[in-house]
Amino acid sequence: MRRLFAIILVCALIAGVGVGCKAKTGVVNLGGIFCMTGGSATFGTSSKNGATMAVEEFNTAGGAMVGGVKTTINYINEDDAGSPEVGASAAQKLINQDKVIGIIGAVMSKVSLAVAPIAQAAGVPEISPTSTNATVTLVGDYIFRACFIDPFQGTVMANYVYNTLKLKTAAVLYDNGNDYNKGLAEFFKAGFEKNGGKVVAYEAFTDEDKTVDYKAQLTKIKATNPEFLYLPNYYGSAALILKQAREMGLNVPAGGGDGWDSPDLVKIGGAAVEGGVFSNHFSKDDKSPKVQDFVAKYTTKYGEAPDALAALAYDAAGLFLDAFKTAGSIKGSDIRDAMKKTTFVGISGAYKFDENRDPIKSAVIIKIVNGQQTYVATVNP
Ligand code: PHE
Repeated sequence: MRRLFAIILVCALIAGVGVGCKAKTGVVNLGGIFCMTGGSATFGTSSKNGATMAVEEFNTAGGAMVGGVKTTINYINEDDAGSPEVGASAAQKLINQDKVIGIIGAVMSKVSLAVAPIAQAAGVPEISPTSTNATVTLVGDYIFRACFIDPFQGTVMANYVYNTLKLKTAAVLYDNGNDYNKGLAEFFKAGFEKNGGKVVAYEAFTDEDKTVDYKAQLTKIKATNPEFLYLPNYYGSAALILKQAREMGLNVPAGGGDGWDSPDLVKIGGAAVEGGVFSNHFSKDDKSPKVQDFVAKYTTKYGEAPDALAALAYDAAGLFLDAFKTAGSIKGSDIRDAMKKTTFVGISGAYKFDENRDPIKSAVIIKIVNGQQTYVATVNP
């Protein structure tokens, strides 16, 4: 009896260091879908970094117990190239071939809207770190997000421009081929007009990844003499539009939404984007120890400070993995149920989902001062 016990003990010890007797550990796949290439590639890089960091920390902390088996995560990152079609194929691959237990992604609302029906049909939970278009999570009960939505951030900027900057007329120029840009343009306009402001020009173009000349729209806008220029677009086109606007002598203050958050905004736009204001999810200047720990850890690992995309991907992956651990199951419905009940506290705030699986979170307003993102204010919902 003693002998048997000794053998079992030795076996357990050996298993513990991973040699000999079959160790009871498992590995499951988790997918990420982000725009790693194309006009908004800094979004993808930051998101992948954030998600990777959360997975590594989860594995180092011991993973999850699934049916008595210690289970860690193998993270598989896919590039959607900023395209809904490419994103949809990536989702099919992750679900059918890699058998992922969940998907973190996408960044862009138009891509998330293509990925979500596939995840929903397969019963695989998806959490978008940053897709803010309100319709994304309405696709179904397996679809979550880690950020506020556009009706909120559009209103935040409408109020800031009207009440704080005290500007009474605005022009809007947006990409009408992306649900994000289109929706944000509408919510800014509605909020601004509700305050008593006037949107004197409302101009569009079709694909910010391909459009390089905005002069026709800017000529129309200039003729209306707006006091403010609202550009609810991603950083690449926002910067180009402002360069062209300044060249044309349209020098009024400008702003946008979370899509402005990239180190490349200033690299591309230079002096043209100076003074620009935008709504965002996170500021690295937040003095809370939790944020500062994350900023230090991330900067050491990746050589640059995290932006909102990095923080939200870290939160989205962290929230998903926390729910996976609580569920102790790789079944999509079990993880989904645990996600719905989450009380996860992330870098960008504490999470609690409403009935549409959208979290209620505050926004920050950021201003470009001397080429640097500078914190201006926090706005609560
Ligand atoms: N909110 C944007 C969208 O829905 C994506 C984005 C979020 C971009 C945060 C930059 C920063 O398409």
